[in-house]
Amino acid sequence: MAPIDPHSFTESTHPLTTHISLSLYFDFSSSTIHAAAILTLASPHAGPLSLDTRSLTIHQVLDPQTLTQLPFTLSPTDDPIKGRHLIVTLSDHSSVLIVFSTSPSSSALQWLSPPQTFNKLHPFVYTQCQAIHARSVFPCQDTPAARVRYKALINIPRQLSAVMAARHEDRRPPVAGETKAFGSSCFDFDYESLWCADGRVVEEFEMNQPVPPYLFAFAVGELGFREVGPRTRVYAESVPSILDAAAREFAGTEEMIRQGERLFGDYDWERFDLLVLPPSFPYGGMENPRMVFLTPTVIKGDASGAQVVAHELAHSWTGNLITNKNNEHFWLNEGFTTYAERRIVEVVQGEDRAVLNIGIGWRGLNEEMERFKDNLECTKLKTNQEGLDPDDVYSQVPYEKGFQFLWRIERQIGRPAFDEFIKKYIATFKFKSIDTETFLNFLKENVPGIEKQIDLELWTEGTGIPPDAYEPVSSLYSKIVSLANEFKLGKIPKEDEVADWQGQEWELYLENLPKSAEASQVLALDERYRLSESKDYEVKVAFLQLAISSSCKDYYGEVEKTLKEVGRMKYLRPLYIALVQGAGKDEEKILAKRVFAEARDSYHPIAQGVVESIFAKHGV
Ligand code: BES
Ligand code: ZN
Repeated sequence: MAPIDPHSFTESTHPLTTHISLSLYFDFSSSTIHAAAILTLASPHAGPLSLDTRSLTIHQVLDPQTLTQLPFTLSPTDDPIKGRHLIVTLSDHSSVLIVFSTSPSSSALQWLSPPQTFNKLHPFVYTQCQAIHARSVFPCQDTPAARVRYKALINIPRQLSAVMAARHEDRRPPVAGETKAFGSSCFDFDYESLWCADGRVVEEFEMNQPVPPYLFAFAVGELGFREVGPRTRVYAESVPSILDAAAREFAGTEEMIRQGERLFGDYDWERFDLLVLPPSFPYGGMENPRMVFLTPTVIKGDASGAQVVAHELAHSWTGNLITNKNNEHFWLNEGFTTYAERRIVEVVQGEDRAVLNIGIGWRGLNEEMERFKDNLECTKLKTNQEGLDPDDVYSQVPYEKGFQFLWRIERQIGRPAFDEFIKKYIATFKFKSIDTETFLNFLKENVPGIEKQIDLELWTEGTGIPPDAYEPVSSLYSKIVSLANEFKLGKIPKEDEVADWQGQEWELYLENLPKSAEASQVLALDERYRLSESKDYEVKVAFLQLAISSSCKDYYGEVEKTLKEVGRMKYLRPLYIALVQGAGKDEEKILAKRVFAEARDSYHPIAQGVVESIFAKHGV
């Protein structure tokens, strides 16, 4: 008996789940899903079967054929990272039916009340399952080593519609008897009559390609869409102005898919739809298959959202086709995807843009090295995550060091050979979950002698940035960095020097400034360029971060406003950290605590947890 994943109770000697059939009844009045799941195993199993759960109430466990009850135990307390261990006892069963309810605090789910939506008329709910939150929606072997196909019946009020990272099969009235198997006796209310009540509809979905549980995703609300390409619609809350802006922003998606196919092989997922979520969505984007989830903050009207779409699209190959076996090999997902993203950006937006992105990434990587100087494990590509929460160790390292590693290999063997290697890698391991060693073996087999040219062990197991990593060179990049260096000498860039700067140029400029400066100089910079009012959150947040660390109190109102209007962790993290970090920050700490108390309910549970752990770490 051994766990196969430090973040899951899944046992190596147990068969893995291959299919899940879900029936989900959404009760918006209590922010709860009442549900049943039939898990089918790769082979019949006798004895205990370990499953992951978090914040779930397990009502009954049954043999799906005979509906006889099966014994189960749920650990009495939560493991702080893994949640609650559910053990069901099977006797040669190859499937098991679990009847359960989620709780309002289920970490994957954000329930928005009507006032928290744009239209203010209907509630909204959506999932974010990566890295280990699928277990708070349904019991499962919540490890990317277990790839499952699934079906889902989603029972919701008729005024709403549902989307999933799966094929939509039908929208129809509930059918009497379709939940009979578990509906009659397992709940302390009559499930069947709830399911079939007036005003309810059922949306049916099927995902017939095996995916890791973290790619399970749905959203339910008052949704609308626009067609933007032959296999792409953008969905969002049904607000014409949002839908139109999104359709404009993402008009170039089909071209990116084509470029992706040219570089990495066929697009295997049939559709590539986009869903623009409310501002509380905790990430920039999430690569849910067939339907990428996006923050509305990428819609800026300057086509820069394309970079995030390029990234999530690239996951269709690296991440969704080939998946890290567990989070210790997360760089296989994100490093590869960052590399693939930049290759797509290079063709659709030009080399200059790609180099600028590499430069922003390089800056980010160097900052992470500073942040982790007392925690060198986090600077490795392959990390030991025993006892660590993936949401706490999330950083740029797997993205940017992973990118640098692959870029290093590209420089060694040349682009044509590397392109061929990547295509072969994807074709070889698609629909598999693999680890770093598997990648390295494949690399050594296909590029004989590579280990003599590149220190593969230093790159994958070593700490810090290897000496053969590479800071990009381009005249635009160097110009920005040198202007940032001049800021230290009291110089602010002149209008003509920044005339054609877009958000990313400013972002790079701000990231290269010293961590703190004279308040007067920060004010002067903003007076000239109004960065604190930028519609581009990357720019605005980078500026506000500088303002906080320079104790420039004029901007604290803007900081508060920003922390209350968005829930993307990329913005919450640096702003809260800037407020609470360091000595003599009493006023800022009080501000941080008050703002969080007021904004907490509007954040996704994952973001709530992350802010709470920032406070805990800094003794707030
Ligand atoms: N898969 C990630 C988001 C993620 C990572 C969610 C870990 C949960 C745990 C996604 O592909 C991503 O990297 N998003 C970035 C986009 C950026 C790199 C263009 C983000 O959200 O900032
Ligand atoms: Zn990613």
